Amino acid sequence: MKQTIGFIILLLGLASCSGGSVSEEEQFVGDLLAKMTLEEKIGQLNQRTGQWEMTGPAPKNDNSQQLLDDLKNGRVGSMLNVVGADATRKAQKLVVENSRLGIPLIFGYDVIHGQKTMFPIPLGEAASWNPDLAKLSSQIAAKEAAAMGLHWTFAPMLDVGRDARWGRVMEGAGEDAFLGSVFAKARVEGFQGDDLSSELTIAACAKHFAGYAFSESGRDYNVVEIGGESLHNLVLPPFKAATDADVATFMNAFNTIDGMPATASSYLQRTVLKGQWGFDGFVVSDWNSIGEMIEHGAAANLKEAAERAILAGSDMDMEAHAYVGHLKELIEEGAVDIKYIDDAVRRILTIKYRLGLFEDPYRYCDENKEKDLIYTAEHREAARKIARESMVLLKNNNGILPIDKEVKSIAVIGPLADDKDSPLGNWRAQAIPNSAVSLIEGVREAAGSDVKINFAKGCDLSIGKRTFFDFMTINEDDRSGFKEAIRAAKKSDVVLLAIGEDAFQSGEGRSQTDIGLAGLQMELFDEIYKVNKNIVVVLMTGRPVAIPEIAEKATAILETWHAGSEAGHAMADVLFGKYNPSGKLPMTFPRNVGQIPIYYNYKNTGRPGAEGAGQTLWSCFTDSPNSPLYAFGHGLSYTSFTYSDLKISENVISADGNVIVSVTVKNSGDVAGEEVVQLYIQDEVATYARPVIELKGFDKIALAPNESKEVQFSLTNAELGYFHPNGTYMVEPGTFKVMIGGSPSSTLKSSFEIK
Ligand code: GLC
Repeated sequence: MKQTIGFIILLLGLASCSGGSVSEEEQFVGDLLAKMTLEEKIGQLNQRTGQWEMTGPAPKNDNSQQLLDDLKNGRVGSMLNVVGADATRKAQKLVVENSRLGIPLIFGYDVIHGQKTMFPIPLGEAASWNPDLAKLSSQIAAKEAAAMGLHWTFAPMLDVGRDARWGRVMEGAGEDAFLGSVFAKARVEGFQGDDLSSELTIAACAKHFAGYAFSESGRDYNVVEIGGESLHNLVLPPFKAATDADVATFMNAFNTIDGMPATASSYLQRTVLKGQWGFDGFVVSDWNSIGEMIEHGAAANLKEAAERAILAGSDMDMEAHAYVGHLKELIEEGAVDIKYIDDAVRRILTIKYRLGLFEDPYRYCDENKEKDLIYTAEHREAARKIARESMVLLKNNNGILPIDKEVKSIAVIGPLADDKDSPLGNWRAQAIPNSAVSLIEGVREAAGSDVKINFAKGCDLSIGKRTFFDFMTINEDDRSGFKEAIRAAKKSDVVLLAIGEDAFQSGEGRSQTDIGLAGLQMELFDEIYKVNKNIVVVLMTGRPVAIPEIAEKATAILETWHAGSEAGHAMADVLFGKYNPSGKLPMTFPRNVGQIPIYYNYKNTGRPGAEGAGQTLWSCFTDSPNSPLYAFGHGLSYTSFTYSDLKISENVISADGNVIVSVTVKNSGDVAGEEVVQLYIQDEVATYARPVIELKGFDKIALAPNESKEVQFSLTNAELGYFHPNGTYMVEPGTFKVMIGGSPSSTLKSSFEIK
């Protein structure tokens, strides 16, 4: 088989010497496509999962023998969940050495926030407001994944999420399309680098296209009903940013949008993605999303689902067996034109070409690299840096943080205090279970020998099995550890109370109707509070949680998310002041689940909600304020920053003009720190009502004590316009308010006109 491929490459060389206008890539792919039978073409569109040693005894209880036969006969183009240089080499050999044309497999895997070295969950990483860190973590994840034989990650997840009941908010960059777009670009560039054929980079995948985070009531896989204005202004921008960053692949979504399955949406996949945006990679369906059209009531059977999906632009079929089972028949019946198959195959072959798989199908299967490149000290140091910059200081009364050097005893309490597994988060790829640095380990190392550490877990959070596929069993009645915890708190100057969520309480299939703290955690907090008021809550969650009582009573709250392999070290760096926290919330923390959906960039309504319950006939609740517990963009520092001299370059501009906005920021405290300077606008009057505030720029700056810096932003029509429901982008005349500050609630304001 190798001769065939080699021969084609030779031909290409000749063609390029003759100065052919067609690129080598196009020539190669075109020549290969011309050689393929219909069955071989359909095989390239078929993605299967592997869960075992490929040449070992395949499990007898499923269709594994059929899979092995399909692999050898070119009826599979990609596999997911086959990991490791050895396993991927064996699977690749099976295909390259047995199938007629020896077209290599592309191996995909969910490398969401690390491969073996785990970084903070993406929602946490977005709280750093530092896209360079997201690029770095993606680069390292790509290096480790590629060293383990992988070519492709099903990341970044770009779903803008406003609903903390939906467990998958942990995978995204929060509630804002602008912040999500910045992180989309960074993550794609991190995974793919500037050379996809390098064995240190992998293909990225913009997912889930589209609207999945708007699943009704936050219930996973539920229907999505959003109008065109929300689709174009909230949902699509991060996907456009990924496309502009040359993302190699897209993954569509399980949900319907206004009744249309995303997998069958020709508008999304052909009109917008492949048409308007010029995307030249391929779209993979989400797991069996083609087959699920039947359950949706959008296809009578798998054959009809296959027809709808291929015509709509779903190029590769993940585990529905729809294409390999029905496309041949659909072609022969004339229901589907071969051009749709050829287009999909061409896209897939192109990405395999760019990955260098035709030059060397085994390029990524190097067991030495696997040993040398993964889970290194350098990678773990990067994980620590990223983790501490992702943490958000939500409250810090009496300056209890950073922990005073005079403190002689610290109680470290809580079900997550010694947890070495939950900080790894869900979607943890090849992380070593129980390998994270726990809070207690980090505190013991940082506190030094003259500080007494009193550890007492207090209670378990979950009991029994905890895996990606199992529902959690929450401990609701074992309080046997309370006494010891109370004793530890009584005899300590400060209490660090580690509470929040188990890793597997968030992620796919983890929707909750209640976003308070599960189990006995609040009871434990109350018992501790009775004996020691100096409580620093170290929150470890995969989503925003409703913690109004804690917000009222705790002296300090540090949101650390599920912070990855180096969680405990990063937490200690912040708690003991080695690092001054700089994180800002990428997603609103509600007071209660009843407020959801709640987000910072809300629209005013015709009866703007009066703050505080009790005012009827206005857009508010009778039993809760409209305001959140902690707002998007909120995050405290150990120092303070003051803003002054807000300047706008023009008072009036044309629709294609631009405005330079500048502000001076000063570190008015006595410790160095980083500030996320945020630029917001309000388009006060528009054809379609606009939000009262929208993020349109940010810059994270480091300032020494008393140091000042001028920060500048440029506002152009790219920031000042918005999409009408039909997808037309408009910059409309009128007054634009400009707001700059360290959070949406504390900004300097000015305005300008667009004539
Ligand atoms: C899952 C997820 C998707 C993931 C895919 C492969 O169901 O929805 O995000 O990439 O299947 O594991």
